[in-house]
Amino acid sequence: MKNIVLVGFMGTGKSVVGRALAQRLRRPFIDVDELIEREVGRPIRSIFAEEGEVAFRRVEGAVIQRVSQRENQVVATGGGALLDEDNVAALKRHGWLVWLKADPDIILQRIGDAESRPLLNVADPKARLAELLALRQATYAKADAAVETSGRSIEQVVEEVLRLMPVDEGR
Ligand code: S3P
Repeated sequence: MKNIVLVGFMGTGKSVVGRALAQRLRRPFIDVDELIEREVGRPIRSIFAEEGEVAFRRVEGAVIQRVSQRENQVVATGGGALLDEDNVAALKRHGWLVWLKADPDIILQRIGDAESRPLLNVADPKARLAELLALRQATYAKADAAVETSGRSIEQVVEEVLRLMPVDEGR
């Protein structure tokens, strides 16, 4: 079976929904951000602070290539994973991509303290968020399906993903 790959902006629930979905389908759950942190041995915010975004994206790309070689997993990506075409191609080769969406205000609420999200750890996170969302809309639209998460519980989102999942993907 193909991987189920969750994509979308920070705070849309990729990790929590991914974990619940994996449990439900009895598949291994892979969190790309977690693998990056394990590989580098430091939290993402310190990778950004000490080595910069370019270095972070390099590790992210390598992890995505590796994860994409296996099938039958549920994969949660970081919000910038689809900015790189090689990442998109690798994830799509063995994966069905679902874009988790949320309203900007809800994203800000869920993210709370932006310290762990270096890209939003700025003077005006709301403006930065709007800017990033606009820039990335087209990359997320490369996903095979989209699910709205605003005002929905984890369970409801899981149900919706399962409902949209093509039957031959192992629902
Ligand atoms: C990023 C999102 C983060 C993490 C990094 C960069 C982004 O992941 O990969 O801070 O570019 O949107 P989450 O979407 O899991 O927060």
